[in-house]
Amino acid sequence: MDKIKKRPIILDGDPGHDDAIGWVLAASADEFDIKAITTVAGNQTLEKVTYNARRIAALLHLDIEVAKGRNRPLCSDLIIAPNFHGETGLDGPELPEPDHELSPLSAPEMMAKVLKESEEKVTIITTGAQTNVAALLLSHPELKDRIEMISTMGGGLRNGNWTSGAEFNILVDPEAAYTVYHSGVKLQSCFLDVTERALVYPEDWDRIRSLNNPIAKVVAEWFDFFFIHVKSLGWSGATTHDPCAVMSLLHPEIFDIRDYYVDIELKGNYCRGATVADYNGRTGNKPNCACVVDLDREKFVDYLYEACKKYEGWEV
Ligand code: BDR
Ligand code: CA
Repeated sequence: MDKIKKRPIILDGDPGHDDAIGWVLAASADEFDIKAITTVAGNQTLEKVTYNARRIAALLHLDIEVAKGRNRPLCSDLIIAPNFHGETGLDGPELPEPDHELSPLSAPEMMAKVLKESEEKVTIITTGAQTNVAALLLSHPELKDRIEMISTMGGGLRNGNWTSGAEFNILVDPEAAYTVYHSGVKLQSCFLDVTERALVYPEDWDRIRSLNNPIAKVVAEWFDFFFIHVKSLGWSGATTHDPCAVMSLLHPEIFDIRDYYVDIELKGNYCRGATVADYNGRTGNKPNCACVVDLDREKFVDYLYEACKKYEGWEV
């Protein structure tokens, strides 16, 4: 029987608890062939998130290269989020030390290498600021048609979370997001509209903890830490943002996905970084984004649980 072709994937992010949980999900998926991890400054400085990415790769036994991206956004100063993710950017459980050398390539060069070498078109899952992806598109426009799709967590159609208008990943580097949204590459984005409904409650991650394998335990402890700050904002569950960008590829049927033209606000006193959707088609622009706006929360949690279950017998 023919082997089912796996979907080649690049994971790009700023881990970060929810990035890390998204990567646990991606690494558990038989459908994916993870080709590389690339890091971008955001939740913490580039050095810190890169160290975290290498530790996550060691935890998940990923025999792939990790490449470091730019240490700042394309045009603006870096904003970081230690209130959510702690001083290390991934506070909480102890993780193994990196077991692979850091790639000498920059993140965009690593992405270009994977795109050139892959027989199949490659999907980029980006769960931080879109700086690396934008740098790739600007420096290697000839490789656009080697990208199957860019799946992002970023933006909010109804509201922001860092300002009223802007979500964190887009606010960190609005010019990068603008470049991605105007690139013509197939784009699917998980907005706050869905990710703030992807609530994982303490009883859900206690169920994950009860699986009693090393990865499930770490995931539960990441939730424990991440929830400290999220709870202080009035949420009754953890807003599980980044895993949506992975889950919506694996199980699109549990999401509400709508095609809209979306643009990025680059100016304005209060709304820089806002993602603005043309709901009624009044701009006359063709949709440029499959906008993920809602989900079946219970199925999302069940699939997350199933993903963690796959790590039974795992050694760390
Ligand atoms: C996004 O911001 C980061 O703190 C999270 O990792 C997620 O990517 C949510 O706004
Ligand atoms: Ca992130």
